Amino acid sequence: MLIRVDLATFPLGKTLAKDLYSSDGRLLMPRGIILKEFHLQQLLQRGYEHIFVLEDESSSSNSGSSSKNEDTRLPEVFSNTVENIRDMMAAVSAGHMVKPSEVNESIDILLPEVTGTNNVMKHLLNLRNKDEYTLQHSVSVGVMSIKIGQAMKLSDKQLKNLGIAGLLHDIGKCKIPIEIINKPGPLNEEEFKEIQNHPIYGYRIVNDIKLPDPDISTAVLQHHEHQDGHGYPLKAKGKDITLFANIIAVADVFDALTSDRAYRPKMPLLKAIDHIVKSTLGHLEPMVARRLFTYILDISIGETVLLNNGEKATVVLINELDPTRPLVRIGDKFIDLKTEKDIFIQDLLT
Ligand SMILES: [Fe+2]
Repeated sequence: MLIRVDLATFPLGKTLAKDLYSSDGRLLMPRGIILKEFHLQQLLQRGYEHIFVLEDESSSSNSGSSSKNEDTRLPEVFSNTVENIRDMMAAVSAGHMVKPSEVNESIDILLPEVTGTNNVMKHLLNLRNKDEYTLQHSVSVGVMSIKIGQAMKLSDKQLKNLGIAGLLHDIGKCKIPIEIINKPGPLNEEEFKEIQNHPIYGYRIVNDIKLPDPDISTAVLQHHEHQDGHGYPLKAKGKDITLFANIIAVADVFDALTSDRAYRPKMPLLKAIDHIVKSTLGHLEPMVARRLFTYILDISIGETVLLNNGEKATVVLINELDPTRPLVRIGDKFIDLKTEKDIFIQDLLT
């Protein structure tokens, strides 16, 4: 049941009933989102006077119907964001400036979908097969950063700025010769040094966009710094590294580990978490890594997983001491991976 409402009535909390597109044909706001203040302000600024919303959003049916809608919108919103990043990187490569409005359009569509959906991983995994690495990686890191930030109870404004920093964290790579970026073999010393400049290039590009929050460009600059000072480009350490940079670093490592690369196959999801928890001491901030860990645990219950014996099982109970070894069910049979040491989760199925 659609109803047309006057934007001047400020229909906060209503569900948008039709997709809205910008004048150049880009999806501006997908149907199914719950209208928040920043959506309405954005529409008013763009000259909209009326929109269509779903009638009679009772509080009892609200959460169920909206999460279903949002779930189905994610692939489209992710693809849209990939295209926006592609456009921004192409503009920078060609020597043009990116406008703050382009960045805001991307994040304003992405943010409510990501914060309103529990299991974003399935959709991210699907995205990985379709686009070149830097683009899908940028969107994945933006999305995972938002989920970690949400688990840390950051404000909406902080989540927005964190999401922008995540989406743009590797934008400096468009200043590096494509032969170096795509080189399948090991890099020589000179090439490696050039790659290590991408946070500095990114910092300059993001500063040129003139976004209001300086934390965004600082996070881009610091996303390869390590807690122990062995990162790059500035060898910052510990408390000198900002929260946003720490969050993006965790999302960056996690996404890199779980993506297929020219030089190695992807690591199964739970193995990657295990690796982050056990093998990144001195690199990643442990409390932030734990938030990612908690988030993945949240989505594991009820998930279908592939075991190393080739069987598909459903996760029914998490083992808190070793979350990669939960209790799983295959039909009527339960297997406790805590005790069945020969069986382990190979991957999550999408
Ligand atoms: Fe990077």
